[in-house]
Amino acid sequence: MTVPSQHKRVFLQTFGCQMNDYDSGKILEQLRAEAYYPTEDPAEADLILINTCAIREKAENKVYSLLGTLSETKKRKPMVKIGVGGCVAQQQGEQILRRAKMVDLVFGTDNIFDLPELLHRVHRGERVVSTEWRHRKQKTANFIPAFPEPAPGENLVKAGIAITKGCNNFCTFCVVPYTRGREVSREPENILAEARSLVRRGAREIMLLGQNVNSYRAGEQGFVQLLRSMNDIPGLERIRYTSPHPKDFGEELADAHVELPKLCEHLHLPFQAGSDRILKAMRRNHGIPEYLEKMAMMKQKVPEIALSTDIIVGFPGEEEEDFEGTLRVMREVRFDHLYAFKFSPRNDTPAASYAGQVPERVKAERLAAVHDLHESILAEKNSAFVHSRQEVLVEGPHPREKGTANGRTRGNKSTMVMDCELPPGTLVPVEIVATRKFSLIGREVGGG
Ligand code: SAH
Ligand code: SF4
Ligand code: F3S
Repeated sequence: MTVPSQHKRVFLQTFGCQMNDYDSGKILEQLRAEAYYPTEDPAEADLILINTCAIREKAENKVYSLLGTLSETKKRKPMVKIGVGGCVAQQQGEQILRRAKMVDLVFGTDNIFDLPELLHRVHRGERVVSTEWRHRKQKTANFIPAFPEPAPGENLVKAGIAITKGCNNFCTFCVVPYTRGREVSREPENILAEARSLVRRGAREIMLLGQNVNSYRAGEQGFVQLLRSMNDIPGLERIRYTSPHPKDFGEELADAHVELPKLCEHLHLPFQAGSDRILKAMRRNHGIPEYLEKMAMMKQKVPEIALSTDIIVGFPGEEEEDFEGTLRVMREVRFDHLYAFKFSPRNDTPAASYAGQVPERVKAERLAAVHDLHESILAEKNSAFVHSRQEVLVEGPHPREKGTANGRTRGNKSTMVMDCELPPGTLVPVEIVATRKFSLIGREVGGG
């Protein structure tokens, strides 16, 4: 792309979850209207933004180490402006300006749509902090003001849409209720308008996003009604959602996977820990028997369902026996994918000061045990994929293997399609011929 000389360059680095990716997309859309073009190289940027994550200590440390590097950039190029947004910005506000002298702007998770005005203040020489909450009084809101028209040649293939923001659950380990505020659901029409606009821009698959996505409610409309409306959008081929909470997951949503052809055969349902005692201390509001029943119901209704989860090891007070429960759940459910984390004590959260903090060495051992078990289950499961038929949505050419395409199955398995140069956005029927540890290899069947 040639960039006219009067245009400015923005370098945006995103950490964290899909909600942050979504917000980063909105940040770039805002800035485009202000004549900023994205660049991959911070050295050539006029504006450097970091969209931060506070979920674990490691995520937060990455922000400060990146800021350390950027202070060199700023020394070399004093005119560059540096802004910090996202969850660390929301939680720490002013402290960031005090701790990192090169930062010009701190903006919270609810202040993305004020960016143009905030940047004008920065350019007048102010150091700005803006972390006020928006739309938190009413239960529903239209929190996205406008959607861009397709750019020439644009082909998104996959996109996310935030349908709620915030979280009211206050799990005792989690910063999200503090960094994203109270839960607000978005008006269905505002969501559907964004979905239609994304389809016009090439999206074939849309992921509905929320911290507790299945507690979505706008007046009479619940989450399953929203899925039905999404299913009616012409041109859209696949619908996913993340993350649902087990306490709000029930038969109606399980049935939606049977009823709605576009809703993919994939369920990501975090269980965090396999012991009722620990779940209680985490304030998850459900028990393991209930979780296992729900997973069994899902498998019974949709036998090919792919299941994934989040696990925390070493929550305060977790004994060997509790941890055995986590491994037992894994053996029973046999997940296709999982994200496992060592408990990380976070500011403002009750669990950070609970008695019985687990030593780092034990956390590391438990994490390794989770990964080992997962890999052995996966090796068994993967062999069952060989010779199966899968539908793959092509995302683009494979980055390393020439002449092959990269995409995902409806179960969200990453798949390399051999001898395939179909354009991104194509749905291709594939026979699986081999597997790798975390992905599949297939060949197009039926000549199209
Ligand atoms: N809203 C989602 C989770 C969002 S955070 C849900 O409730 O399922 C994503 C994952 O990060 C969580 O599921 C949890 O496994 C992990 N996580 C959150 N806080 C953590 C902490 N303090 N230490 C370690 N892992 C954490
Ligand atoms: Fe955090 Fe719990 Fe809310 Fe998930 S449901 S975002 S873990 S407080
Ligand atoms: Fe991180 Fe904030 Fe997402 S803390 S996980 S970026 S909601």
